[in-house]
Amino acid sequence: MSDASTPPENPKPAHPKRGWRNFYGRRHGPTLNQAQKEYLNEDLQALSPGDVDWDVNPDRRPIDVAARFDGKPVWLEVGFGGGEHMIHMAGRYPQVGIIGCEPYINGVAMLLGKIRRARAGNVAVHPGDARDVMDVLPAGSIHKAFLLYPDPWPKSRHHRRRFVTQEHLQPLFDVLAPGAEFRIATDICDYVRQAVEEVPKAGFEALFSVPAAFDRDDPQEVSGDWDQPWDDWISTRYEQKALREGRKPHYLTYRKPLG
Ligand SMILES: C[S@@+](CC[C@H](N)C(=O)[O-])C[C@H]1O[C@@H](n2cnc3c(N)ncnc32)[C@H](O)[C@@H]1O
Repeated sequence: MSDASTPPENPKPAHPKRGWRNFYGRRHGPTLNQAQKEYLNEDLQALSPGDVDWDVNPDRRPIDVAARFDGKPVWLEVGFGGGEHMIHMAGRYPQVGIIGCEPYINGVAMLLGKIRRARAGNVAVHPGDARDVMDVLPAGSIHKAFLLYPDPWPKSRHHRRRFVTQEHLQPLFDVLAPGAEFRIATDICDYVRQAVEEVPKAGFEALFSVPAAFDRDDPQEVSGDWDQPWDDWISTRYEQKALREGRKPHYLTYRKPLG
């Protein structure tokens, strides 16, 4: 029997607002090389979007994201992986500021190398969970959001870990400005099914039609509006892997309604 007067060693707070989050992905991979360690030590702090971490901002005060980017419109990329899409967009749209979130530290180090080489000045990097960033973004402060090849969590009992659940979609909806676009790319048919069901429930409108032949009870690859990538698309590492393994990309575009 446990002694109620002795607190457990690592108490799990009753509510995520107190700083604990159920992140199931990988945070570390193979050993970082010397240059990557240097990027993390020397560059990461200056690239912070603001006071995101719980130890510096336990009250979750909104950060001044507009000031962080000198009044430019701000975009958000969730799970940037190796950062190839983020650095591509930063170069293509210098008039925009882009915040990227990625808990996998090896991916963060890869992006930091790309930022140095491109001398990109319009990016901010949070080396952690996008939910922590969404907590502190002012409502309506983000003008475009990207969720590119999110972790598929294929087992049914793990579907609730997917980003396209209300726990993630509701805060995303809140931080987006009216009219803001939300792009999802995935190669997983069942992820398409869950996005089609869940994203509109959070308030988004789909800018594509679900093909009549798409069977939500048995999602299989079906051609439709979602076959066409965006005009400014660059293929990511995970998309390349999907293509090599014979899976078809789907490009889903949503929008936060204007009204
Ligand atoms: C399958 S990878 C895709 C990476 C990249 N977007 C690409 O297309 O190559 C999914 C990424 O999402 C990240 N991720 C998972 N949950 C996240 C969260 N809550 N916030 C931010 N990133 C997350 C993972 O660490 C992982 O690197």
